[in-house]
Amino acid sequence: MALQTNNQRDSFTSKAGVIAAAAGSAIGLGNIWRFPYVAGENGGGAFLLIYIGFIVLIGAPVMLSEFLIGRSTQSNPVGAFKRLAPRSYWHLTGFLGISAAFFILAFYTTVSGWTLEYLFLAFSDGFAGKDAATLNTNFELFRTSGLRPLLWQNIFMVFTAFIVFKGIKNGIEKYTKILMPLLLLIIIILSVRSVTLPGASEGLLFLFKPDFSKITGKVVLEALGQSFFSLSIGMGTLITYGSYIGKKENLGHTALSVSAADTAIAILAGVAIFPAVFAFGIAPESGAGLVFITLPLIFDQMAGGYFFALIFFVLLSIAALTSTISVLEVVVAYLSEELKLGRKKATILAASSVALLGVACTMSQGPWSVLGIGDRDLFDLLELVSANVMLPVGGLLIVLFVGWFMPKPLLFAELSNEGKLRARFKYTYLFIIRFIAPVAIAFVFLHGLGFFSLFGGGDL
Ligand code: PFF
Repeated sequence: MALQTNNQRDSFTSKAGVIAAAAGSAIGLGNIWRFPYVAGENGGGAFLLIYIGFIVLIGAPVMLSEFLIGRSTQSNPVGAFKRLAPRSYWHLTGFLGISAAFFILAFYTTVSGWTLEYLFLAFSDGFAGKDAATLNTNFELFRTSGLRPLLWQNIFMVFTAFIVFKGIKNGIEKYTKILMPLLLLIIIILSVRSVTLPGASEGLLFLFKPDFSKITGKVVLEALGQSFFSLSIGMGTLITYGSYIGKKENLGHTALSVSAADTAIAILAGVAIFPAVFAFGIAPESGAGLVFITLPLIFDQMAGGYFFALIFFVLLSIAALTSTISVLEVVVAYLSEELKLGRKKATILAASSVALLGVACTMSQGPWSVLGIGDRDLFDLLELVSANVMLPVGGLLIVLFVGWFMPKPLLFAELSNEGKLRARFKYTYLFIIRFIAPVAIAFVFLHGLGFFSLFGGGDL
């Protein structure tokens, strides 16, 4: 059983292209910037353990579910639900995804802009001879200065829009296939340098030795939010990419490879950062600036540091770019397919409206700090609401849909490529998405929001 296919659509051309693009979406600032600082704020080892549990038990199955929805319908997230469940409210799940895409892009491009500033600093040897305190002050001054981060953010948005505008094969696939392997190489080199710093073992213990007394409702919810954010799931990015995957690809393998690569890079980022954090006496819970302060310190200590700093920030910007294109693509696919705008118009409209929210987000860090609630500015709020609320809710709806509402013959046909693959895992997968994943997501979500308490302290 299969839905009718559309041969006019742009698509990925090879298995390597599919994996590079999906891993390009998954691997990004979430792994290298967000994972270390969220792990740092939530106790290190215990967080990592729960995080990995969520990737295996929930993340990879949600990713596969998104691919299945996308490839079977060859549509954007709203169109996909309309095709699979006409005359129902399921397409609202697609809208939820598109709103999440908006929010995520707004704050994500702020951080992407920081990476361009740091690339510029690396180029002009701006880290040389600076101690932790100076680097910290410089980062804070820059982040809250308003105009300069805004400029970088918008430059970044233009790059993103350019690649999305070029399309799937000649834009997204072409660029991600070259850039992702390079990123892996650099992060391995950095990890090796970091673990050979004097005093590195304390950082490794922090990352790998779980202290179970640190587990609270908040830690568990943060781990869930981070796993969704990092895998790019819960908002239709991978429904959209799935819609460009050819009928011959093995979706189960793809989901597993991408999840494994994403987790490996997050752990490597932790290995690159925590030993240095402890070696230089920085607090592991120092928040969003962690990477922008500790890595320049390591670079300054290593032979060839200038060179490594430069390529690191080039590649961090690229990792961010391969993720922002996947988020913008969600909005563009929706606008061009559902509202029948041409790709060019859709790209311009999507990029400029996201940029507007992005301006407010960047400015809320400094000059417009009134934009916020309590001690959280707009940037913090967008990050918190998208990662810890919208993505888990989106993911919950996606697994419920595939598990309970998608016609089973269609589901199994898609999993097994119309019977050409054995797909032996299909009943395990079905069991997970029907029972385990939805119950776990709902449980963690309500617990994290403080509806009830098992480990104490559920507040965000
Ligand atoms: N997964 C990306 C990262 O870890 O940096 C960020 C991201 C991309 C989140 C796409 C959500 C998304 F849909």
